[in-house]
Amino acid sequence: MSFVQGLQCRECGRKYPTAPLHVCEDCFGPLEVMYDYDGIRRNVSREKIAERPRNLWRYRELLPIEDEPRVGLYSGFTPLIRARRLGEALGVDELYLKDDSVNHPTFSYKDRVVSVAISKAIEFGYETVSCASTGNLANSVSAHAASAGLNCYVFIPEGLEEGKIVGSAIYGPRTVAIKGTYDDVNRLCSEIGDKYQWAFVNVNLRPYYSEGAKTHAFEVAEQLGWKLPRHIVVGSAGGTILPKLGKGFKELRKVGLVDPDEPCSIYSAQAAGCSPIINALKRGTDVVDPVKPDTIATSIAIGNPADGYYVIQTLKETGGWGENVTDEEILDGIRLLASTEGIFTEPAGGTEVAVTKKLIEQGRIPRDESIVISITGNGYKTIETVAHIVDRPYSIDADLGNFDELYDGLTRATRPDAKAG
Ligand SMILES: Cc1ncc(COP(=O)(O)O)c(C=O)c1O
Ligand SMILES: [Zn+2]
Repeated sequence: MSFVQGLQCRECGRKYPTAPLHVCEDCFGPLEVMYDYDGIRRNVSREKIAERPRNLWRYRELLPIEDEPRVGLYSGFTPLIRARRLGEALGVDELYLKDDSVNHPTFSYKDRVVSVAISKAIEFGYETVSCASTGNLANSVSAHAASAGLNCYVFIPEGLEEGKIVGSAIYGPRTVAIKGTYDDVNRLCSEIGDKYQWAFVNVNLRPYYSEGAKTHAFEVAEQLGWKLPRHIVVGSAGGTILPKLGKGFKELRKVGLVDPDEPCSIYSAQAAGCSPIINALKRGTDVVDPVKPDTIATSIAIGNPADGYYVIQTLKETGGWGENVTDEEILDGIRLLASTEGIFTEPAGGTEVAVTKKLIEQGRIPRDESIVISITGNGYKTIETVAHIVDRPYSIDADLGNFDELYDGLTRATRPDAKAG
């Protein structure tokens, strides 16, 4: 049973049918899915959800599909980890990590939005799916297209990490690398989308695609025992996930799954080398001026974010804020997370950790309230970014005497100096 009532323009309110549309013909505002919340309120309960399989479709009344889901049957329901050692390092009492770095099947938050978009593409009868991507989205679209037997074209900027390139190619899409930034890729994809009848998950299916990001918020609430964290920090690139966390929490209040008075402040994390949203926030405006990205955090390097305006609105509305961090701080963030919690994230996650640290130090996030850091991507895809900051293996012969010598040196010295290749 579906509770979708159609699409509606976020700006002027004009209504549209449930179709592959994404902008308003009157005002060019983005279209958003509408639901019958009274109907949902009567039909869902915590108990009913608890009985369902542990995947993102357990919240299906709040997702925009009509038929049974076609993909994503193992996506979502990622761990919410009580991070005691990282909490201690950051000097806070109650810290959690929402770990989408282990999302199925391609290890980033994008498996949520793609599960919904590809299920919807199949409902609409598309045979070819596509996307404009900074890497993770291409990985997820390629994998889901393969499992659904759909044709697939993915568009990425040139120069991405090997893990991101091979991590799409293995599923057999046509990968097109554009000589330019993500923003050039996106512009071209809008033109291709107009000309070819393909399901571009983050262009013409964007209203459906973005709804999938709400499941990150639903899971956090359910995993906290149907409570909201007081604060949550997440990375911003195109600006999809952050406003959808806000929408997700609002919906939980509206349909009675959490206390209607529970507040949750949301915070945006960006790299200093690409922070159009944080720049606007600090200037006190919601006009997001484009920038040219220059950062190791390639997956969140979007200079002209489609939904930047809505990120700022959500920060204001929820009493949150945002910060940016240098590439060096991002590397420190990756290392801090790995060494305290045993989780290897990519630069986007390093940004999320480093920004949280900064916001705590600034007093923006109080030390005695509950905090969730969203870890949105996996470090095994971006090995080359951190290869130079880790110790290399000690190289010895297969000889006990050789090892004794090494061990002796290591335990005697205060710092290991033998970093043989
Ligand atoms: C790992 C990771 N984290 C966060 C984001 C933020 O995405 P957005 O603001 O576009 O939802 C992305 C987007 O590509 C990503 O790949
Ligand atoms: Zn409109």
